[in-house]
Amino acid sequence: MSQAPQKNTAPPVESLVSSFLRLPQLQKIHQPNNKLVVESLKVFKESLFAVWEDSVTATVRIHRGRLYLNSNRVPAGKGFAPTVGRLEAFLEARNIFGFRFQKPDELTDDTIVELFRELNLSALEKEPGAYLEEKLRENWAYPIVDKDFNISVVMSDDGTGTSRPVVWNAGVRTLALKAKKSYSRALAVITGLNEKLSEGQPVNINKPRRVVQDMVEGLFQNENLLMSLSTIRDYDDYTCTHSINVAILSMCLGKRIGLSKIQIMTLGLSALFHDLGKVDIPVELIRKTSKFTDDEYALVKNHPLHSVMRILRINAEHTLKSKLLISPYEHHLGVDLGGYPRAAKASPMTLYGRIVAITDHYDALTSSRSYRPVPISPEQALNIMLQVSGSQLDQILLKVFINMIGIYPVGTLLLLDSHEIGMVSQTLAGADQGRPMCYILDFVDNGLQRGDLVDLAERDGDGNFYRNIMRCFHPSEFGLNPSDYLL
Ligand SMILES: [Fe+2]
Ligand SMILES: [Fe+2]
Repeated sequence: MSQAPQKNTAPPVESLVSSFLRLPQLQKIHQPNNKLVVESLKVFKESLFAVWEDSVTATVRIHRGRLYLNSNRVPAGKGFAPTVGRLEAFLEARNIFGFRFQKPDELTDDTIVELFRELNLSALEKEPGAYLEEKLRENWAYPIVDKDFNISVVMSDDGTGTSRPVVWNAGVRTLALKAKKSYSRALAVITGLNEKLSEGQPVNINKPRRVVQDMVEGLFQNENLLMSLSTIRDYDDYTCTHSINVAILSMCLGKRIGLSKIQIMTLGLSALFHDLGKVDIPVELIRKTSKFTDDEYALVKNHPLHSVMRILRINAEHTLKSKLLISPYEHHLGVDLGGYPRAAKASPMTLYGRIVAITDHYDALTSSRSYRPVPISPEQALNIMLQVSGSQLDQILLKVFINMIGIYPVGTLLLLDSHEIGMVSQTLAGADQGRPMCYILDFVDNGLQRGDLVDLAERDGDGNFYRNIMRCFHPSEFGLNPSDYLL
């Protein structure tokens, strides 16, 4: 006895996503007239028309692991959550973040079959997102491609009945995961390198080189994300996190002044090694909370030379090594050559040395140290640095650096007139510096949680800004670590 086909009772968007995922698979193994293909096509079409009942455009996308239909979040219950996960993986494999389905005058089965054929073909392409964008140009179904991380503005109700825009920023999640991974890899590499050098074991340049290469790629994909990484602080492992942060900030500054990828690579590696010699200084001195005696200070001042000695022991091409050891040697020298190490005949500081001197200064000031448990705010740090501009630090490079860090550096907390708290996620150039992009921090039971991304430069129809900054705070005032929220 044959069973009557079961009627599909799932909500339209769930059926739409399920059939959207099923059809490319079925097409691979069955002919178009296969019963399963025909049935899935029917479900896909019916669910699309049900969704189009409310609006002729249906945008289905994944944002921070959640499914959205147009601007509404689709709750993913236990049964549906794995499907959302599969959709995310399916889209990620094609470098896209969703699909926009525009209701056409007529939607034939052939047109749908064609869409899934292209989706299957795209998986074989080197740049699947670009391929789909090209193939489906002006199609009724169009991919949401990772252009500027797919930012578009949607309205969100803040719970008080007031609608303010939030920004879609799909795509950053994957990059953030990648960035976090490369940071922890860098940490492991620099720790391992220090250990091996201390034990007199041979070390190779390959691992650090790969780490820096990854970061350079990250820098060219999303500079702000890499800058967010530099807000990572680890009090117990200060020297290692400091070295990586100085490398990141140096590479960002290098990019700002137009260095090539290869030059940024060399700069990043040499910045990563700038304090390698710190391990040769007695640990009690590094952790000392009171002022150094003259003898102690003399020992501390030796660390640039120790860094050079350690770099010389790394297995690398001589030409590369000679480039890597200069900025570690020079980073405390000062452009007026009044710092250390003292040399009988000193030459002017090199460009890389000048860059690392600035980024080293900034990261050291904005980190908590044994003698200064509360870090100095970025604003104060930049003011302190301005006082030694031209003597210790290069005037022009410092200006570029201040411009790069911005009025509201990444990680700054903002109190907004919308009764929201924001955390700056991106610094912008020019006039928009005063209205950065930030994440809204939502209050949850056990503290704060990252919420929507908003653009403070966004205005309503009358030209008024949706949100204004009332006050700003350094995250350490609230014991917050920006990297916990930004990455
Ligand atoms: Fe140093
Ligand atoms: Fe340093």
